[in-house]
Amino acid sequence: MSYEYLIFGQQNINFAPIQFKGMAEQAKIVLEGKEYEYPVITGTENEKAIDISKLRGETGYVTLDIGFKNTAATSSAITYLDGEQGLLRHRGYSIEDLADKASFTEVVYLILYGELPNEAQYKEFNAQLRDHTLVNEGLDSMFKAFPTGAHPMGQLMSMISALGLFYPKSLDPNREDDAVNRTVIRLLAKMPTICAMISKKGHGHPVVFPRNDLDYVTNYLNMTFGQVSMLDYEPDPVIVSAMNKLLILHADHEQNCSASTVRVVGSSQSNLYSSVASGVAALWGPLHGGANQKVLEMLEMIMEDGGDVQKYLDKAKDKSDNFRLMGFGHRVYKNFDPRARIIKKTCDEVLNKLGVNDPVLEIAKKLETAALTDPYFVERKLYPNVDFYSGIIYRAMGFPTEFFTVLFALGRLPGWIAQWQELRGEKQPISRPRQVYTGETARPFVFMKDRA
Ligand code: SDX
Repeated sequence: MSYEYLIFGQQNINFAPIQFKGMAEQAKIVLEGKEYEYPVITGTENEKAIDISKLRGETGYVTLDIGFKNTAATSSAITYLDGEQGLLRHRGYSIEDLADKASFTEVVYLILYGELPNEAQYKEFNAQLRDHTLVNEGLDSMFKAFPTGAHPMGQLMSMISALGLFYPKSLDPNREDDAVNRTVIRLLAKMPTICAMISKKGHGHPVVFPRNDLDYVTNYLNMTFGQVSMLDYEPDPVIVSAMNKLLILHADHEQNCSASTVRVVGSSQSNLYSSVASGVAALWGPLHGGANQKVLEMLEMIMEDGGDVQKYLDKAKDKSDNFRLMGFGHRVYKNFDPRARIIKKTCDEVLNKLGVNDPVLEIAKKLETAALTDPYFVERKLYPNVDFYSGIIYRAMGFPTEFFTVLFALGRLPGWIAQWQELRGEKQPISRPRQVYTGETARPFVFMKDRA
């Protein structure tokens, strides 16, 4: 049985049930002298997994894998990563091609609906987005109450969650009509407006309203850097092109921490706004998307401390020191993060074209060169990840450091939505992992007067 969703009235998309290349092989496990067999499944890129869905029922055993370093929580047809080869593909298209040849909203459409849009679909999609860019006045009044110094990610999380208060009819994720897709469009359309509002609040400036004559990214930059008094503001094409590329590079990344969070929340049949707001919460963490803010703060600290990169490499290697090289290392990429390569190249281009000479970029390059030849990092396969250079471009564009992770969320929104839609389309069960209990065994209650 496949699940069909009405998209824009003129096409359906099938969420086919989990398709694997073959279920031929079996994995044998011997427990307490008894042999059990479990099917080995093969994905379309020949990834292998042991399907242990019957393990506990047959053996009473569960598996333990803290941090899910070896555990697939789902199958998915959205994004493919090869950590050893440094490959990243969305629906089969390489990140290099998409970053170089597509617009961000083309990639959004691809990630959400499985195919690159033709001209008519692309026109219709962008028209739908343009119809929903304004933010409800009530939401704006709530936003005005946020303290000026509130962290941008806390504001973003609150605003996305609050959208559900203003559109109560769009909360039911199980409606089979076009309501869910309208919610998807509404969230995608309002995200740039909300992000720009947060920017303006940070500067104490009045918001700039969305303009329907501009494309998605140009409109976002206009709402961010334009001024109500500057009617002739035109974003620099260099910045528009770089922002398109940066948003594409962040659009989805399979089962990362925040996407997994969105899936867990969505698996309880919670609405899309709450599921995405939980993804923003997870992304905020410095080990995840919050790293792009921490990288810039780290590079500035090294620069202010005289630029001695070796001192900070040594700190990062010292187990008694909590310092970590932010922007380095990745759970999946063990050679290089293809996005980091593209961002590093874009960084040079943008700073040259903008005539920006940022000494922090030189520190970053020195740090990367030193780490790539240091046995500690080489042995642990720690390379620059997507967050290492992105902040330098964001700063050159004029974004404050605390805002960098909001830009990560703006790019990642289509990925979170697509992961949530895929989970719902396959009617996956509620996520409820097991545990191994290591606490006190049964003991009788002791009344207060008898306690030591
Ligand atoms: C993102 O999952 C995704 O796809 C995420 C993401 C996406 O697009 O959604 O790609 C975005 O989150 C990128 C990562 C951003 N985070 C950072 O840059 C923070 C710094 N990096 C790390 O904290 C770490 O590398 C992680 C969190 C990214 C990965 O952690 P793992 O896979 O759990 O690895 P680990 O912590 O077990 O480290 C393995 C070893 C340890 O040393 P040993 O115990 O073997 O001696 O490597 C060391 C770690 O101490 N190590 C580091 C290090 N990262 C790992 N040592 C110093 N500096 C670092 N940055």
